[in-house]
Amino acid sequence: MNRRVILKGRPQGIPLAEHFELDSAPLRALDDGQILVRNHYLSVDPAMRGWLSDAQSYGARIEVGDVMRAFAVGEIVESRNESFVPGERVMGLFGWQEYACVDPQSVLLRIDEHDFPISLSLGVLGLNGIAAYFGLMDACAPKAGETVVVSTAAGAVGSCVGQMARNLGCRVIGIAGGPEKCKLCIDEFGYDDVLDYKHEPDLASAIARACPDGVDVYFDNTAGPISDAVIRHISAGARIAICGTASISSWDPWPTGPRYERHLLVKRATVRGFIALDYVDRYPEAVARLGRWIKEGRLRYREEILEGIEQAPSAISRLYTGENQGKLLIRLPASRG
Ligand SMILES: NC(=O)c1ccc[n+]([C@@H]2O[C@H](COP(=O)([O-])OP(=O)(O)OC[C@H]3O[C@@H](n4cnc5c(N)ncnc54)[C@H](OP(=O)(O)O)[C@@H]3O)[C@@H](O)[C@H]2O)c1
Repeated sequence: MNRRVILKGRPQGIPLAEHFELDSAPLRALDDGQILVRNHYLSVDPAMRGWLSDAQSYGARIEVGDVMRAFAVGEIVESRNESFVPGERVMGLFGWQEYACVDPQSVLLRIDEHDFPISLSLGVLGLNGIAAYFGLMDACAPKAGETVVVSTAAGAVGSCVGQMARNLGCRVIGIAGGPEKCKLCIDEFGYDDVLDYKHEPDLASAIARACPDGVDVYFDNTAGPISDAVIRHISAGARIAICGTASISSWDPWPTGPRYERHLLVKRATVRGFIALDYVDRYPEAVARLGRWIKEGRLRYREEILEGIEQAPSAISRLYTGENQGKLLIRLPASRG
């Protein structure tokens, strides 16, 4: 039997436990070309809110009655595809379930690197690290000496962006919520300075003080008031990567607020949205570089691991209260052998 988390009702806003139910279904036989993966860890991602929403997103909407779409890592236990062998470890879109019977296109990464815990392939060596890598390198191309500002600075993506920018010789300013996360940014992730958006009475002035020469690169994970404050202080030729929109609580009605077109015009700035899933062919390049930095002690990460699939339905909301301390994961019994 396969334990799974099923979408029970469509959330309007943040997905909560009440929108899901846990069920158990018999495993079906594999079709030709398919593989059976036993999941070890399930990922919890802000992207899930968009996947569940009626609003247009970059992927198909999850329907009521479907297994919740999710990234997961696990081990192949059966294969009817000659390119995959039992025992191989893979990361992909395997869903919130114990076993996934999938076509090879669901596999996003084959995990060759055995020096790291498998859970990292969902965080710093998975979609979070990969998003940080391509968003920073491709969309922003930072140069040594430039000032880089990162929102959700203590989070899975943000902490990775901050440290990569430091490794490239930039001056890095983080924006995070609360004193504990701000302390983590300085002590653990090596930011040059950090601003607490929850307690800073005038964030725009604080950014101006922290970035006296302007913001050359802004890695945006939140949109909303934080972006309004940062973009007022971009420098000429600034590059802005739109990675996420965590602060937007509702897409209907669409939020309104200060506009930043004039700043983009006057500063000849570039804004680029990107989706890490568009870079699948280049994942090995990102994972190799991120892995090297981890081994050299130049890239640290935090994980928060919840035990058991029962924890999944209530987990997404933790990302929107800011309760999560690093990459949020669900550990399944398979990870204990
Ligand atoms: N484009 C892509 O391909 C891609 C891939 C992966 C992730 N992402 C995006 O990257 C961002 C970070 O994802 P993650 O997985 O690393 O999550 P995370 O940063 O570990 O956790 C989410 C964080 O968002 C912050 N947050 C929540 N509500 C907020 C609000 N109203 N205003 C400001 N901050 C708020 C909280 O941090 P504080 O406690 O500091 O407020 C929370 O801890 C998300 O927007 C996600 O959608 C994009």
